[in-house]
Amino acid sequence: MKTNKGENRSALPAESQPAVPVKRTLAQDLFDGVAPSYDTWAQVLTFFQYLPWRRFLVSRMALRPGKLVLDVCTGTAGVAMEIADHHDDRIVGLDVSHFMLEAGLRAVEKKNLDGRVQLIQGRAEHLPFPDQTFDTVVFTYLLRYVQDPDATIRELSRVLKPGGELLSLEFGLPEALWVRALWEIYNRVVMPVMTIPVSRGWHRVGCFLGPSISGFCKRYPVDRLATIWRDNGIPLVETKPLLRGAAVVMWGKKSSN
Ligand SMILES: C[S@@+](CC[C@H](N)C(=O)[O-])C[C@H]1O[C@@H](n2cnc3c(N)ncnc32)[C@H](O)[C@@H]1O
Repeated sequence: MKTNKGENRSALPAESQPAVPVKRTLAQDLFDGVAPSYDTWAQVLTFFQYLPWRRFLVSRMALRPGKLVLDVCTGTAGVAMEIADHHDDRIVGLDVSHFMLEAGLRAVEKKNLDGRVQLIQGRAEHLPFPDQTFDTVVFTYLLRYVQDPDATIRELSRVLKPGGELLSLEFGLPEALWVRALWEIYNRVVMPVMTIPVSRGWHRVGCFLGPSISGFCKRYPVDRLATIWRDNGIPLVETKPLLRGAAVVMWGKKSSN
């Protein structure tokens, strides 16, 4: 595994990176364009819930010294750094977007966490690690970007040690009718309009998110996701809706046999 200093793949120019998928993904197209301002606008567009949701996710992780953690779709490494702030872990952050990783690398170095947080470019669907490598695998806002969420969860579980933890944070659809109505107005009207003056990249994200979230949540409601987790070796799955279901945190342990 490469280290951050000097030879990290995410620090190389995009053209010279060896393991970059040949076909660019939707996620690369979306996130490469917003990487430098990602953290600021992610907070603003979620009414400043982005960081509290992330903190709740990390608070569900077991406290055991010296764990090896994989943060899949780490983006600008926000979750990885939050884990490093609270746990004595070594963390590998993996993402498909070179520019998100570059922003993450700068943030990691600024916080002097480059000894504990390593960033690499790769895809969640084909993790470049042997079976049962990690004590904890965490992913945030990933499943809407993969073609086969079932196979991706299988892949995440593959690299998890028996007894290890899987945790996720994804956007959700509020159930209460009046909250859902507000959610629809915000995601389908307000966000597309308010991102126009920000940048072309953010406007694209602003138009994409509402239909993407509602389409995914209708196909993969939380119960179905929990079943997929169970089918892939996580027998007891706990879930917690946040902000009336606008986001959902899930967590569970891989069975030991
Ligand atoms: C909404 S951002 C979230 C970033 C970070 N997890 C956070 O919470 O701040 C989603 C990230 O997932 C990455 N991503 C999407 N599909 C991916 C895939 N198949 N494999 C790896 N990363 C992926 C994107 O590049 C992007 O950085």
